[in-house]
Amino acid sequence: MAERYVSEWLNNQAAGGYVVYDPQTQTYLLPDEHAACLADENSPTYLPGDFQSFTSMVKDEHKVTEAFKSGTGIRWGDHHCDLYEGVERFFKTGYLANLVSDWIPALNGVETKLKSGIKVADIGCGHGASTIIMAKEYPESKFVGFDFHPDSINVARKRAEDAGVENNVKFEVAESTDFPGKDYDFVTVFDALHDMGDPHGASKQIFESIKSDGSWMIVEPFASDKPEENHNPLGRLFYGASTSVCVPCSLATKGPGLGAQAGPAKIEQVVKTGGFTKFRIATKNPFNIVYEVNP
Ligand SMILES: C[S@@+](CC[C@H](N)C(=O)[O-])C[C@H]1O[C@@H](n2cnc3c(N)ncnc32)[C@H](O)[C@@H]1O
Repeated sequence: MAERYVSEWLNNQAAGGYVVYDPQTQTYLLPDEHAACLADENSPTYLPGDFQSFTSMVKDEHKVTEAFKSGTGIRWGDHHCDLYEGVERFFKTGYLANLVSDWIPALNGVETKLKSGIKVADIGCGHGASTIIMAKEYPESKFVGFDFHPDSINVARKRAEDAGVENNVKFEVAESTDFPGKDYDFVTVFDALHDMGDPHGASKQIFESIKSDGSWMIVEPFASDKPEENHNPLGRLFYGASTSVCVPCSLATKGPGLGAQAGPAKIEQVVKTGGFTKFRIATKNPFNIVYEVNP
């Protein structure tokens, strides 16, 4: 019986153009370029993680409807669990493709320090994809990932165990405005600053916990300051997710709701309110902007 399901599903995939059907041999083929988008979890073009996160938005539609009416938010932890795994699977592909090869080398002197061994905090780490990639690449450095969502921290700990990096990475539940530790050489925030209820408070906490010669890397979705410049297919995707997830997360604790399309000017204002004086775009690609911030 299971075969009958598979054959019906395969024809559905062929009708959609995802697989190619050969009537001569009556076989179905997944072309390599389709596999890169649909079947290779580590490919930079892998999309099912994104789709998984969007299924959570459909499942949570009633919560968003209520939030629209009341103007209140939805806490990160109150979403369907597909959000957390979907976000991990979606963002991880970009981190695998860019973090070690492009983003860290674009920062002033950080790569050399990471190789020789420094203290790093990854704030709003979720399931720890970024933290674990860095911990694997820079075994001399010590990493701690913080997130206020306990379920995500439990998953991150399991991921670290599976990746065999427990020696130089740990994960702790903590608010971005109140995470422990001092004298960090390097602080990172991946796709999380705009979600926070108090991004200005987080900036202040990072300022107080970082060394005077330390660096803060902020990775945000690509965005311009002017909304009209974000009115394109990518902006459509980011504003959609932001309406259902990012803005409600921030509003849930009476935050500013910066949104996933905040743009450089708003991020700079957050950073400087916290006490930092140096802010620049270190690098960007069509999907992300990477900011470098120093005290
Ligand atoms: C879009 S997810 C990104 C997760 C992870 N950085 C990644 O790239 O896969 C945003 C994360 O920020 C966390 N977060 C939001 N507000 C936070 C806060 N105030 N303190 C700590 N973590 C927070 C959420 O729990 C969530 O894991």
